[in-house]
Amino acid sequence: MARKIILDCDPGHDDAIAMLLAHGNPDVELVAVTTVVGNQTLAKVTRNALSVARIADITGVPFAAGCPRPLVRTIETAPEIHGESGIDGPAMPEPTLDLDPRHAVDLIIDTVMAHEPGEITIVPTAGLTNIALAVRKEPRIAERVREVVLMGGGYHTGNWSAVAEFNIKIDPEAAHIVFNAGWPVTMVGLDLTHQALATPEVTRRIAEVGTRPAVFVNELLDFFGAAYREAQGFEHPPVHDPCAVAYVIDPSVMTVRKAPVDIELTGTLTLGMTVADFRAPAPADCRTQVAVDLDHERFWDLVVDALERIGDVSA
Ligand code: BDR
Ligand code: CA
Repeated sequence: MARKIILDCDPGHDDAIAMLLAHGNPDVELVAVTTVVGNQTLAKVTRNALSVARIADITGVPFAAGCPRPLVRTIETAPEIHGESGIDGPAMPEPTLDLDPRHAVDLIIDTVMAHEPGEITIVPTAGLTNIALAVRKEPRIAERVREVVLMGGGYHTGNWSAVAEFNIKIDPEAAHIVFNAGWPVTMVGLDLTHQALATPEVTRRIAEVGTRPAVFVNELLDFFGAAYREAQGFEHPPVHDPCAVAYVIDPSVMTVRKAPVDIELTGTLTLGMTVADFRAPAPADCRTQVAVDLDHERFWDLVVDALERIGDVSA
């Protein structure tokens, strides 16, 4: 049975690839896509999500827009990585899907409550504002959700400060709520995603797929690669967000380690740091784990396989 996931995202080049992986892989089923301010404004990332749906012919899945700003902090976006549109590079088609009329927070709650306990996995690949508000508005979702597998954080490096990663840093209070809500949390952070590099071999394999969605992915990686070279000195770009989806599809694609994780909310140099406590062994009631090592080849096999299954789409 395919694992049902809610993808909460801010497309974003790598969010778009996460969406394609979730759509194309038969072992997960997208049951809702929700958007939140992050890489760009809410209006821009929501439009991007709907355009990606058109590119991959994703239909029958509700898409809802969520929070236009973080809980406490002022908005911080990432144009140096994702451009002014949030997905600069490829031509993005006019969306054809209508948005669900509900707020993302309500769509998340309704979806979780309408399913059996343990059926829904939440996969956030953006700031955690929507997820934090959902669990505050309807605390029962904390027991019903199977697990939260999020892209964010890192235990020995940051990218938005020396020690904080973008998705956590832009809304640390929301992250604090999510990491302390009592549900199982897998943190797929930078330690892992910096291994998910789109090397020339990867883009060659994607080019071989030859379909419109595959061409789109390589256009995404062209822009993303140049931005990462320029802004952060990477030779090849780390493709963060699909790693979280890949873990849900096949946990053996990475190794994980149990460790208590909490969010720094007061540090002047360390705001938004995901502090992982590796003083072994983790306590018996520890519900957080962090991703450590990626099987690079198997990860990209999953992405290529999803693109092959999506096939050519007449948009
Ligand atoms: C995360 O930040 C965003 O820019 C990416 O989409 C990813 O979710 C990486 O730090
Ligand atoms: Ca993202």
